[in-house]
Amino acid sequence: TLYREKNRARFHFSPKRGWNNDPNGLVYYNGEYHLFFQHNPYGTEWGNMHWGHAVSKDLVHWREIGEALYPDSYGTMFSGSAVVDKNNTSGMGDGSDPPMVLFYTAEGSWVQGLAYSTDGRKFKKAETPVVPKITDGNRDPKVIWHEPSQKWVMVLYVELEGKQHSMYFLTSSNLKDWETTDVVKGGTDSDTYLFECPEFYELQVEGKPGVKKWILTGANSEYAIGTFDGEKFTPESERLNGQHGRDFYAAQTFNNEPKGRRIEMGWWRTKTTGHGNNFNQSMSIPMEIKLLETEEGLKIARQPVEELKKLRKKHHVFENRQLRDGESFLLKKIKDDFLEIHTRFSSITSEQIIFSIKGVDVIYNVKDETLSIDGVDMHLPLTNNQLELTLYVDRTGIELFANKGVYFMPVNINVDSNNKDIGIKVKGGSLRTESEVYQLRSIWR
Ligand code: FRU
Repeated sequence: TLYREKNRARFHFSPKRGWNNDPNGLVYYNGEYHLFFQHNPYGTEWGNMHWGHAVSKDLVHWREIGEALYPDSYGTMFSGSAVVDKNNTSGMGDGSDPPMVLFYTAEGSWVQGLAYSTDGRKFKKAETPVVPKITDGNRDPKVIWHEPSQKWVMVLYVELEGKQHSMYFLTSSNLKDWETTDVVKGGTDSDTYLFECPEFYELQVEGKPGVKKWILTGANSEYAIGTFDGEKFTPESERLNGQHGRDFYAAQTFNNEPKGRRIEMGWWRTKTTGHGNNFNQSMSIPMEIKLLETEEGLKIARQPVEELKKLRKKHHVFENRQLRDGESFLLKKIKDDFLEIHTRFSSITSEQIIFSIKGVDVIYNVKDETLSIDGVDMHLPLTNNQLELTLYVDRTGIELFANKGVYFMPVNINVDSNNKDIGIKVKGGSLRTESEVYQLRSIWR
């Protein structure tokens, strides 16, 4: 039955049926978070792009409410974003509620279109596109309000001559007439720095009130940090690695977040085909992004949003204990597949730590400070000879957070429901370990 299918993630959004890829139009509007998404309503593979639509009051429980945008004579509906036009600069409001305005790409004609709504349910497209084609394949408009200049800013992916990836910056005072003000170049061809799905936002450096920076990312989460004067983005550090997994793509953040947080969700490419399932793919959990001062300079850091704590049910605590060389410690046998785990290893003299979760090995090699899951590796330095990990485990994989969230590693791997063991194995020395495990509820009713 619906939402109980094999390999259906239990606390990650996935469509009732059909395929999803990128999150689109993430916005908070009239008391609800809106999650639009690239959707093929007619099949479990990519194609026939529509904008699917789901709403949530808490970022955790989503209700899918049908397609928001359908293909039209300009093409199918590729990725884009949404804003709330509080001052009705577009004139599309009905006099009482400010309009929600969506920006999308019409695939094929490569124009950027606009659609608006005053109830968050029904969407009406503007008759003509608002941005003409720049080059073939230009796409994925991200629109934000820039307070200091009192203007709207659009960042748009454009492929220049020689397969040069770039992000165009455009500005507008009414969301309809747009003017190009800047072009920022990324990688070329298969070097996907600043390729597709731009995201652009300002963050205050943690602990430094008044010090703010702008972050520009492409679909693969590589990012630049810099300054922005309302027209031109000037990178100060380029090509920072935003994530270390293999399955997280096209992430976007919410406009108009009521608490002023920067909250992100990405497409999580899960292995959900087969078993007669008539849905495929999912989104990541929502995460809050902060900008941290680290030893290697400014870095973005992600943490699961606090609302996810609502899903906690049973709690297990495993107090500090010493594990010697060759020792294994079975924390627990847990039947549930949906877990939030916090674990800390300290006084480490061992060469290797293997943390096994229901058959999935999270392996940490102390000498070269690398962590690997299912063949995905990342460099993860110890701090004060300690390693602290937070893991969210769903049927479709693991999202791992370390070092205050500066290291984020999502890995899609179908977790074996029949394997109940959660344990730690230590090789080549000893360590101390303590953990906490929460069993989580499903977000589906
Ligand atoms: C990224 C992407 C976007 C495009 C959409 C089409 O995954 O290729 O650039 O708009 O998917 O579904």
